Amino acid sequence: MFARTAIRAAIRPASLTQRLGYATAATSSPAHFSASAVDSMNPHGLEISRAQRIAEDGLVSAIGNTPLIRLKTLSEQTGCNILGKAEFQNPGGSVKDRAAKFLVQDAEDKGLLKPNGTVVEGTAGNTGIGLAHVCRSKGHKLVIYMPNTQSQGKVDLLRLLGAEVYPVPAVAFENPENYNHQAKRHAERLDNAIWTNQFDNIANRQAHIETTGPEIWAQTEGKIDAFTCASGTAGTIAGCTRYLKTVSEGRVKCYVADPPGSIIYTYVSSGGQMTERKGSSITEGIGQGRITDNLKPDIDLLDGALHISDEKSIEMVYRCLDEEGLYLGASSCLNVAAARDLAEKLGPGNTIVTILCDGAYRYADRLFSRKWLESKNLVGAVPEHLHKYIVLE
Ligand SMILES: Cc1ncc(COP(=O)(O)O)c(C=O)c1O
Repeated sequence: MFARTAIRAAIRPASLTQRLGYATAATSSPAHFSASAVDSMNPHGLEISRAQRIAEDGLVSAIGNTPLIRLKTLSEQTGCNILGKAEFQNPGGSVKDRAAKFLVQDAEDKGLLKPNGTVVEGTAGNTGIGLAHVCRSKGHKLVIYMPNTQSQGKVDLLRLLGAEVYPVPAVAFENPENYNHQAKRHAERLDNAIWTNQFDNIANRQAHIETTGPEIWAQTEGKIDAFTCASGTAGTIAGCTRYLKTVSEGRVKCYVADPPGSIIYTYVSSGGQMTERKGSSITEGIGQGRITDNLKPDIDLLDGALHISDEKSIEMVYRCLDEEGLYLGASSCLNVAAARDLAEKLGPGNTIVTILCDGAYRYADRLFSRKWLESKNLVGAVPEHLHKYIVLE
């Protein structure tokens, strides 16, 4: 199940610093600052990490190097160390900034995208936002196709971030007019243009092999026992699993977390049985009906899968807010619920890392609305003493 040499081949640590474009240490300070005066302003010996120095390459080099936050209450309750990677602190506000950066950079490295090029993607979510930031910062044009069922707010946000947006009829993937196929054809019609194809372009997974995984390993100093997160494109779960399995020589246990309406849980726990996609979830950006090219190379490395109901995810949205001070979207809270379930499965004393994908800002009108919760039959999932946070109609 776990072939070490094959795994090592997928990791290219030499290119890490080059791809991240970190600033190197500044060696001299301007003459008009006296060193002792500066020192006296920092009597507590504040430490600045390498990642906190100047992001020399602009916005793209400020992506990643997010904090790893200990969820104190949940850690005390489970007897495990539960750590959340604060991906909401990326410049575009989500874990998808990493994929956006690598998808664009990979196309540039391969000569497929030259200066002033056009990037085209089919997405209604965080990847579009990440790509918009990355494209503006690098001088590329961004074109987004999305189903016309998405909120006007999402269209407006992408447009104000500089993207050209085409809401198209929401038809099944098999239909050639599906937004993904339209995005592909749009890129094919232009010179110096790429379709980033986040689901099956493995530059997405590589972002997590080269950045998220190594960051987690360095931040925990290798003292990590397990990792879990959900799968959308699967870039995050696949890349982190690949890296953590390799660096720990198979020791770190990796579990994919899965919402209702997705086939990944059944596929992994049945040893590869493909099922019909049934049901749906309130979580956005995660859940999948197929094994993407990003997941294929790493799916056999997984130790198991955790099914997380919408009730558990919603409960965790309110608990993270109240107990940890963390204002998180539903996919992050599904991940935290999965970390809690994993803590129960593995027992006390384990260090478990998960991903805090994005904040609740884009979802607040639903997650904290009584009417919306009622429409999803989820009011009862919010613990009684936390109903005070249901502040919207
Ligand atoms: C909010 C949110 N959480 C989780 C994910 C899943 O990440 P990945 O695509 O790496 O599987 C996404 C992907 O778009 C997302 O938008």
